[in-house]
Amino acid sequence: MRQPIVNKKVILKQYPDGKLVADRDLKVEEERIDLDSLTLEPDEVAVQTEAFSVDAFVRTMLIPGAFHGHTEPGQCLIALGYGTVVKAGSNEAYKVGSRVQGLMQVATISKVKKSPNVMSPASLPGVKPSLSLGLFGISGLSAYFGVFHAAPKGPCKGETAVISAAAGAVGVIAAQMCKLAGARVVGIAGGPEKKKFLLEELGLDGAVDYKDSTKPLAEQLKEQCPDGIDFFFDNVGGETLDEVLDQINQGSRIVICGAISQYDTGNMYKKGGSQGPSNYMKLAETSSSMSGMMVGHFLASPVNLARSVSYLMWHYYRGNLKPYEHIEVGLDSFGKSMEIMFSGGHIGRLVVDVTGDLAK
Ligand SMILES: NC(=O)c1ccc[n+]([C@@H]2O[C@H](COP(=O)([O-])OP(=O)(O)OC[C@H]3O[C@@H](n4cnc5c(N)ncnc54)[C@H](OP(=O)(O)O)[C@@H]3O)[C@@H](O)[C@H]2O)c1
Repeated sequence: MRQPIVNKKVILKQYPDGKLVADRDLKVEEERIDLDSLTLEPDEVAVQTEAFSVDAFVRTMLIPGAFHGHTEPGQCLIALGYGTVVKAGSNEAYKVGSRVQGLMQVATISKVKKSPNVMSPASLPGVKPSLSLGLFGISGLSAYFGVFHAAPKGPCKGETAVISAAAGAVGVIAAQMCKLAGARVVGIAGGPEKKKFLLEELGLDGAVDYKDSTKPLAEQLKEQCPDGIDFFFDNVGGETLDEVLDQINQGSRIVICGAISQYDTGNMYKKGGSQGPSNYMKLAETSSSMSGMMVGHFLASPVNLARSVSYLMWHYYRGNLKPYEHIEVGLDSFGKSMEIMFSGGHIGRLVVDVTGDLAK
């Protein structure tokens, strides 16, 4: 007979009214679980979680009407994570002891139902498991499809490519991919430390600090992209997108991966609530294209999956694609980590290490 264990869960207390404040909008609840008497549906497993990534979509799921479903007050937050199966329903393919990865409740013991979103985590030689949440997970795959497949043409040799939120999980990989494609790459991020990181660590050709109050974004972009912009991988939207549109060249390609500047405003899904580009006529004037992309749509094709993973492995093993992670320890830190995502207090993949093993 196993001892009861304490299960911690991160619960939504109330919909954030604009900016998410973890202490006000979320709470951590504890319950005692007796695994021997825990009931599971036949196609369900109980997973002892090890780590979660803190993705922008976790915030949009706290807005009623979010397109990929939303969390209601009183419910546990949902995020991408991985862990070990500690109990399995009668029909479950995953047996006790196997590791699974996918969308799961942000809890120490998460009940997970069989779905295409749950799979065995990538276990590649020499690859630590947390990279299945970053370079070999949603971030690397979004960067790959956004850079190479979403637009009519990806970044080309000699062109100027700009990436917003370039020091974040998706951006840091997209920026490296644009370099690998031979483009001149300029990253946009907030603060002098990130600017230094983009130039000195990532080796980008230019960097823009959109938080620099002494020089407007438009002016910095002009300085860093003297020949105009040919390819833009946008994670931020709002004013950033507008300013970039103002400086695009003929035949440029804009990829809308996300619009994080709009997620923490409380207005995201209200009619007219998101700040859209007022400069969109630039697309017509320059015969340019703007394409949206959703990673899940690309992954529906096994050929795409095979291609993307081959690309990621090829460049990772050769040291061409470097993974960056920021690790916060303990499930209690999940809410604060969501605040970190919006204040930009991390570089690369933001990971919550539930067990404390990653930090060792
Ligand atoms: N389309 C898809 O399938 C797909 C899949 C995954 C992710 N995404 C999108 O990719 C983007 C990045 O997500 P992620 O999970 O990788 O997060 P992330 O980049 O690791 O974190 C978000 C970053 O955005 C910047 N930021 C936050 N608030 C901002 C604001 N108001 N204005 C400008 N920049 C702001 C912060 O960096 P600074 O310090 O530079 O401000 C922060 O580091 C999101 O837009 C997300 O929706 C899309």
